[in-house]
Order: sequence, then C-alpha cells, then structure tokens
Amino acid sequence: MNIGLIGSGGREHALCQKIYDSKFSKKIVCIPGNAGTSKIAENVDVDIKNFKKLYNIIKLKKIDLVVVGPEEPLVNGLVDFLSKKKIKVFGPNKFASKLEGSKAFMKKLCKENNIPTANFKVCKNKKQVINFINNNKLPLVVKADGLAAGKGVTICNTRKKVINISEEIFKGKFKSSKKLVLEEYLEGEEASFFLIVDKKSYKFFGTAQDHKRVKENDLGPNTGGMGAYSPANIVNKLIKKKIISRIVKPTLHALKKKNNPYRGFLYIGLMIKNNNPYLIEFNVRMGDPECQVILPRLKSDIVKIFYNAVNNNLKKTKIEWKKNKSMTVVLCAKGYPGNYKRNIIIKNLNKIKLEKSDYIFHAGTKIKDNKIVSSGGRVLNFSSSGNSFQKIRKKIIKLLKKLNWKSGFFRKDIGWKVIKNENN
Ligand code: AMP
Ligand code: GLY
Repeated sequence: MNIGLIGSGGREHALCQKIYDSKFSKKIVCIPGNAGTSKIAENVDVDIKNFKKLYNIIKLKKIDLVVVGPEEPLVNGLVDFLSKKKIKVFGPNKFASKLEGSKAFMKKLCKENNIPTANFKVCKNKKQVINFINNNKLPLVVKADGLAAGKGVTICNTRKKVINISEEIFKGKFKSSKKLVLEEYLEGEEASFFLIVDKKSYKFFGTAQDHKRVKENDLGPNTGGMGAYSPANIVNKLIKKKIISRIVKPTLHALKKKNNPYRGFLYIGLMIKNNNPYLIEFNVRMGDPECQVILPRLKSDIVKIFYNAVNNNLKKTKIEWKKNKSMTVVLCAKGYPGNYKRNIIIKNLNKIKLEKSDYIFHAGTKIKDNKIVSSGGRVLNFSSSGNSFQKIRKKIIKLLKKLNWKSGFFRKDIGWKVIKNENN
C-alpha cells in the first residue's frame, strides 16, 4: 500500500518509521516531513492548510491511505474533505475533533455525561470570570477555548492574574476563539492514556508520561514536551478500568449519539488523584513526544492496524506490546520555548552508532545544501528501550553528549519521579 503521512514533527518521524517497518507499506509520502523522514520516505513540501493541494498530491502519488499526524488539519476538517472525495483517511472528522479544538465543547460533553473533570465555567465576559473567582478557591486555571499551539493554558495563583489573562483572551489573543474555560486546579499526578478508535470499537494504545516544563525538576514555562517515558505505571489495572468506564465509554457513546462516531487516535490527558482519574484534556491525535516512546514498544504491524481502523475492523485486530520500557529525551534549540535560532547545522549525526532499540527521531530539522539543519524549537528526539528507566536515560544522555550540538539543550532528568521509585 502507498501511505501518505501528514505532519513534520518527531511524532510523524516515529509513525513514518513504523510504517516503513510494516510488510504492507510500499511507498511512503510525507507531507511535508522533515530531514529524518526524507531518509525513509518521499517528502513533499505542500502547505498542509491547503486541502486542495493535498488532495492533488494524494492523487498524483497514488496514495491508498492517509494518516494525519497533527491536530490542526483535523480540527479544520481535512478528514471530512478527503472522505467526500473517497480517499481512505485515518483520523477524526471535524465535529469529533472538537474534543481538542474546543475546550468549551469538551467540558460541556463531560458535564452532560457525568465524566469526572475539574469544575468549570465557560466564560464570554469579565463578569462571568469574577463570579467564578468569587465562588472558587485559588489557584485557578484559565484555558483559551480554541487551539492555541500549547500556549492556551495558564495556572493562576492570584485573582489579578486570572483577570489579566482572561482579558487578553477576550481581546482576541488567540485567533481560534475569544471564549475561555475557567476551571479549578486539580492536584495529583499526570499521565497520558492512548486509544485507537474506529466507528465500532476501540483498542488500548499505551500509556506515557510527558514532561512539559522546560527546566529540570519541572520548573520554568510549559513547552510542547521535553521528554517522555512509557509505560506510565501509575495507570494500574484498576485505574485503567475506571478510565474506560468513566471517561472513554461515555465520550465515544456521546459522539455516536450526535451522529459523529470517533475514528483515530485518542489521547486522554489525566490527573490521577487518590486512585481516581480526572480528565484534563482530550487530544485527537498521538502525543508528541509520547508517540516516540509508545511506538517503539508496539509489536504489531501499524499499517495493518490503520487499514483495519479505516475499515472499522479494529475489533478483530490484535494489538500486541513489548513488555519493556522506553524513554525519549528532546534536544531543543537554545532559547526554546521563547526565541531561538534556526538553520543551524547539526554535525556529528552520522557519527552516532545506534543499537537496534535506539532511535533518533527528527522533529524541527530540514535538509539545506545537503546538510541537516535545525528548523524548529524541538529539534531531535533520542529514544531508547530496555528494562530500567535509569539505564535507558544514561544511554540516551551518552548519545546526546556524543552529538554535542552546541546550539541545543535538553533535560537530564526525564523520568525523575519513576526513577526515584525504581531505585526503592
Ligand atoms: P492542557 O492543554 O489542557 O493539557 O493543559 C496543559 C497543562 O496544564 C496540563 O498538562 C496540566 O499540567 C496543566 N493543567 C491543565 N488543567 C489543569 C487543571 N485543571 N488542574 C491542574 N493542572 C492543569
Ligand atoms: N505532549 C503533549 C501533546 O502532544 O499534546
């Protein structure tokens, strides 16, 4: 089969690698891809916002199945657009993508279906904000309603901050929406839980824990994710059962009732408190960098899984996992998540000897004058697997030191919480 893969991050390179490893894939076309995907697929540089151009490329390259990596084209209705033109495409439609595309939609769905989540109010003006502050304890969390490229959530310790951030959103700081969700702050430990879903059933697709803060010890501003590990053992059997019965089943049922059954990856962002899961967010795609730790643990053929999902045959599809552990550390450009330089050459990449369980997944990279250069804030993901998170991390850091990219930085403490317990 010829597969089209949309996106250009570390997540897409990890997906591309798995598709490449499949016995069912013939040709892979990455749109637009990165320097890493260009080694195992054909990159085609098309603006993924331009659906017509995407369609033309898909026809030209005789693509049999399209996999959409990032949320933006999903939220903008790419799946609806391609499906109408009879293209097989893996991902949720525009309506179902509102689970991620509109926090207000997601929270209302939770309320209507008794799904455990933080107490909240959808606010359209300052009066509603002040009313919520008066009736709830600080800290409070302000969330822009629409897509905000990971910058829409602020945890506020003072009334003043809640009001200031809210006013910025009302004034149109984020183009996607002028509404916001104000909600109570949940304490606990975060974990991400993944499913692959088709219109008839769903299958477990791993757990992981991301590290969103830029600095060690989970300090500093939020990023897209500085590293992750899988599995996230906090999600034990009992919690998994509760996630399925209290969050997954009512959500998928509610979308079916609204005549928009879900299909695609479903990322369930959770806060676990006293052995109970609370929904923080849904994402309608795989996580990045969570994908870079989950896919290396997948034993089954991913193209077969995608093919069965687009034909609503997931129920009969066996999805098997390795019992090992895996970790990824993200190498970022200095300055990220603030301003950083681009187009800096990354030397030494071919000096690094990788073993079978090691991967360097590219994110913000491209090829310029035959050299690999940086093109984004998160540049490379160093992933590895084994039986001890501590040993895996040591190995990854050794490889990162070998690369010795002077324009970059990375967190040396990914997995610190789980490693502390590993040693007890
Ligand atoms: P989101 O974009 O909704 O995932 O929010 C980004 C991050 O903000 C989450 O990963 C959490 O770390 C944090 N967060 C969001 N909502 C809450 C909440 N209600 N309580 C505590 N932390 C939260
Ligand atoms: N790693 C967080 C995300 O993919 O949204």
